[in-house]
Amino acid sequence: MHRERAPTRDIELPPQRAMLPDTATDRDVAMSAPSMTLYHNPLSPFVRKVMVLLHETGQQNRVALQNSVLTPVSPDLTLIDDNPLSKIPALRLADGNVIHDSRVILDYLDQQHVGNPLIPREGSARWRRLTLASLADGIMDAAVLVRYEVALRAPEKHWDEWLDGQRDKIRRALALLEKDAIAELTCHFDVAAISVACALGYLDLRHPDLDWRTANPQLAQWYFEVSQRPSMIATMPKI
Ligand code: BEZ
Repeated sequence: MHRERAPTRDIELPPQRAMLPDTATDRDVAMSAPSMTLYHNPLSPFVRKVMVLLHETGQQNRVALQNSVLTPVSPDLTLIDDNPLSKIPALRLADGNVIHDSRVILDYLDQQHVGNPLIPREGSARWRRLTLASLADGIMDAAVLVRYEVALRAPEKHWDEWLDGQRDKIRRALALLEKDAIAELTCHFDVAAISVACALGYLDLRHPDLDWRTANPQLAQWYFEVSQRPSMIATMPKI
C-alpha cells in the first residue's frame, strides 16, 4: 500500500551509497534509529532468510521488528492493511511503502549495503543462485503447509495423500541439493545458501520425523558448518 510520507535519504541515495555514513546525521541514523519495520515471527523460515541477510550484511539495526502471529485461518489484522495476503515477511520502508514477499525483500536489502552482493546482479550465476533459492523456498512452502495441516486440522480430516505429496517434494528437492549443489552451497554464503540453510532449520524445528540427514549426509555436514555462523546462531528458532 502506498503511503503519503515524505521520502527519506534511504530512498533518495543511490543503493551503493545508502549505508555510507558521510555526515554525523547519517551516521547517527545508521547506528541508532531503525528506518524500516519488518513484520516478523521467529518461527517463520521465510522471515529467517531476511534476518540472516540483515546480519550477514550488517544491517540488522536498520530494521525494527513487529511481531506477527498468524495462520491461514487467523490472519494478522494489522498486517492485512499492508499485505492483504496476510503473509510474512513484509517490510515497511522508510517512506511508508511496504514490500513483500521474502524474495523481493532480500533483493531490496541486498541493494542497500556496500559489501559484496549476496544475490548476483547479472549473468548465469544470478539465475543459478536464484533457482537454488527457489528450490529452498519450495521446501519451506511444503514444510509449512504440512505443519498447518498436521497442527491445525483434526486428525480424522488429514488428507494423507496430500501430506505424502508434500513430503515427497521435500525429499526430492533435498536429494537434488545433495547430488548436484553441495559445492555451490559451500563456495559462498549467499541467497542460495541462506535459503537452503533456513529451509533445513525449519525441517529440524517442525519435521524432525523426516530425518533428512540420513539420506543427505553431505548436506548435513554443510548445514552443521553454516549453523556456526553468527547470523544463523542469532536467528535460530526456539519453541
Ligand atoms: C510455524 O510456527 O511453524 C510458523 C510460524 C510462522 C510462519 C510459518 C510457520
